[in-house]
Formats: sequence, C-alpha cells, structure tokens
Amino acid sequence: MWRASLITLFPAMFPGPLGQSLAGRALGEGVWSCDTLDLRGFGLGRHAQVDDTPFGGGAGMVMRPDVIDAACTAADPGGRPLIYLTPRGQPLTQALVRDLAAGPGVVVLCGRYEGVDQRVLEARGMLEISVGDYVLSGGEPAALVLLDACIRLLPGVMGGTDSAREESFADGLLEYPLYTRPAEWNGRPVPPVLLSGNHGDVARWRAEQAARATRERRPDLWKMHAGSAGGALAPTAQAH
Ligand code: ADE
Repeated sequence: MWRASLITLFPAMFPGPLGQSLAGRALGEGVWSCDTLDLRGFGLGRHAQVDDTPFGGGAGMVMRPDVIDAACTAADPGGRPLIYLTPRGQPLTQALVRDLAAGPGVVVLCGRYEGVDQRVLEARGMLEISVGDYVLSGGEPAALVLLDACIRLLPGVMGGTDSAREESFADGLLEYPLYTRPAEWNGRPVPPVLLSGNHGDVARWRAEQAARATRERRPDLWKMHAGSAGGALAPTAQAH
C-alpha cells in the first residue's frame, strides 16, 4: 500500500477532495493510505508554539526546527522521501511524480507562516518541491496536488487508456486537442481527419497538434523536448 503521511497544522484538510472520485475509491480499496500528524501536538510550552520570529528581522513567523524535527521522527518515514512543499523547491514534473508514485509513499511537511527554519530541511535531507510559480497560503493545497498526481498513477487506480495518455506527457509535450460528438456543433466541424478512420493519419495529425500546441503555448517545454531530465529524486541542493 502506497502510504501518504501529512505533517500539518490542519489535519482536517486531508484526505479532503482526495476522499472523492478515483482517489477516494482507491483509498477505500486500500490502494493507498492517508494519515496525518498534527504539528500542534509537537508545539512547545503552554501555547504549544510551533513558530517564532525570524532571526535578522522581517515579516511573519518561521516554523521552529526542533518542533518540525520531532514531528518528522514521529512520522516514521522508513524508506519514504520526506518532502517539504515550498515555492523555493524544484518544480513538480510528471517525471518526479512518476518516481514518487513508484516508491513506497511520501511524508509531506506542509508549512504555514513564512516558512521553515533552513537547518531542519538540510538535516533531514528534505526534498523541496514547488507546485508552481505562485504563492499559496500554505503547503496543504500543494500537498493535495502532489498526492493526486501520484495516486492516479498507482496500479489499478485508472484504466489502461489513461495511462497511455499520461505517457504522452512523458515526451514533455502538451496533449493534442480532443473532440467528441456531435461531428458538427454550432457551425464548428470536427477536424475531418478524425472522421477518416485512417489510424496512421490520425496519429500523425495528433503528433503535429501536440508539437504545435507545445511550441506555441509552452516554448520552455518545447526547448527542453530535445534535451533530457533525470535525477528528479535527489534531495534539494543547498547553497552554502
Ligand atoms: N507553499 C506555498 N506556495 C507553494 C507552492 N507554490 N508550491 C508548493 N508549496 C507551496
């Protein structure tokens, strides 16, 4: 069973939307499991404090390394990667999702406030991951994104058709456009090649469309298409 453990101040956010639909069914069937560790339980003092003001000054609060470390120990990662979700992390890609889904599961630290003391991230060899170039109010929604992407790849969660579709993103290309009935809708016909019954022509047209969409919409992906990825599971490199 693929095990997801979430270290969070808001355990009620899990499994949240992942209790529904495909992920929810897989959860019920025991394909994956979801447990939470309430960070507050590791807080210090009368107020169970988990954060403090940043050394050097500045806005907001920083999560304490001792509190985070105690929670990480309690989470008992075993062979699972310890992930910290942060806009400073490496971008979440399908290659990284595939690596994570192929492993025993994940332990995910969800930060709140301005962030987490750098020392515990380094001491624990945490894998820092970002779900995009924007700032969320906390790591929890990012964790839901990460888990959803992994769960749909677990054996038995989706049908064969969809795993094939996922493979197309493995090429680093966007998907070709999709059409269904009616063949003409509001004066808009479906591209005729899709009605031709010629599988070779359809495959060629789809490949062209995928290349074109990637070139026009995501020049960054298009440039990388020729290059390669890899080493996606290495701990986040630290600048000293
Ligand atoms: N926490 C806040 N913003 C985030 C992001 N973009 N990715 C991952 N974790 C985050």
